[in-house]
Amino acid sequence: MRRGLDHFPFPRMAERIWQAYSIPGGKPESQSYLSTPMHSKDSPRELVELCMVANFVEVFLAREGHDNPVGINYLEKIQLPHLSSLYGAMLAGVGYVLMGAGIPVKIPGVLDGFVNHEAATYPLQVAGAQDAADTTLKFVPREFMERDLAPLTRPKFLAIIASNVLATTLLKKSNGRVDGFVVERSSAGGHNAPPRGKPQFNPAGEPAYGERDKVEVEKIGELGLPFWLAGGYGSPEKLREALSAGAAGVQVATAFEFCAESGLRDDYKQALLEKAVSGHARVFTDPVASPTNFPFKVAQLEGSMSEQDVYLARPRICDLGYLREAYRTPEGTIDYRCSGEPVTIYVSKGGKPEDTVGRKCLCNSLVANIGHPQIRKGGHVERGLVTAGDDLTEIARFLPPNKSAYSAADVITKLLNA
Ligand SMILES: Cc1cc2nc3c(=O)[nH]c(=O)nc-3n(C[C@H](O)[C@H](O)[C@H](O)COP(=O)(O)O)c2cc1C
Repeated sequence: MRRGLDHFPFPRMAERIWQAYSIPGGKPESQSYLSTPMHSKDSPRELVELCMVANFVEVFLAREGHDNPVGINYLEKIQLPHLSSLYGAMLAGVGYVLMGAGIPVKIPGVLDGFVNHEAATYPLQVAGAQDAADTTLKFVPREFMERDLAPLTRPKFLAIIASNVLATTLLKKSNGRVDGFVVERSSAGGHNAPPRGKPQFNPAGEPAYGERDKVEVEKIGELGLPFWLAGGYGSPEKLREALSAGAAGVQVATAFEFCAESGLRDDYKQALLEKAVSGHARVFTDPVASPTNFPFKVAQLEGSMSEQDVYLARPRICDLGYLREAYRTPEGTIDYRCSGEPVTIYVSKGGKPEDTVGRKCLCNSLVANIGHPQIRKGGHVERGLVTAGDDLTEIARFLPPNKSAYSAADVITKLLNA
């Protein structure tokens, strides 16, 4: 992080963040992390700076030691931090921006404007907003720049889609160039597109996908842009299949999630690898866990939030707030709510009590997954909730003979040896 901060083009800003958040020698394990303000339509400057710098550092570190392009992925639905995130990533020379979980038609134009450090806007979705309401997010790079900079490189923009109609809509309606598509099937890790039509479930309670949810890959090819296939493509056979269907390549996540270099904490990684080896790994597509309302893939793991008793033992608290939705208050102002927050608070903001059932705090769980659980007053330690694709059951194939761990290079070798 320090290395990244040292390369941030605006050193006074980097220094402010270092002073505010670094602890010499690191945080004692039992001490809580400092809270940051939550994103809102008019976030405090301190938070905008933190978001910009964080995205810069993330991309900067990923670009170290090689010349390959690095992409960054955002969920369209998490709109409040979009503009400062994109600008920070572009300052670090991000090569690709990938976005799903929504319809990102207004992103390409933002990328075009940031090339010349121009101000950008983004339409915030506000539940119950009225026509005249000001729901536009705005970011003006020149309010943050400590000096003039040369124009930035415009990253390529790939939209993540799970239907043909979404691909054509993006091409028709985007406010700038879409450079390609990632076609994601419902076996992919993370959030999945919900099935089309009336909600239906399999006997286990997972969303049931049918014929209508299949993407016609040939038709994607006819749009004339490169595309990548994702969701269960982490094998040489599936890679070959994708290439012969005209894909430029595949997007693979689950296989890399459990490799030695991944940031998933070691105890979770090891336990799930062992389950995969012994044939006991199981991924549940949870229709309600995510406050985004998208189905969310959950690896079943004792001690994690996939377990009902662990979930019920957690006092509901919303202090990171990335998944909060904006809504119009009766007074006409904009406020924010999350169906994972304490039920009484959510309901007092006009949320429906039934929408809170089974919701999990992905924000706190995901930072716990990477080994940074928040420590609550009274000592409660936040637990993780591991997402993984259906391919979790297959990851043992990457283990070299007689080894209990594998590397990212082992995955690449395996994928390419055909
Ligand atoms: C741990 C994990 C986190 C993920 N997070 C995101 C995400 O934030 N945004 C996104 O678009 N896709 C996300 N995905 C989906 C992947 O980008 C990818 O498309 C998909 O998992 C590929 O399928 P595979 O896991 O079978 O290889 C995630 C997947 C995993 C396994």
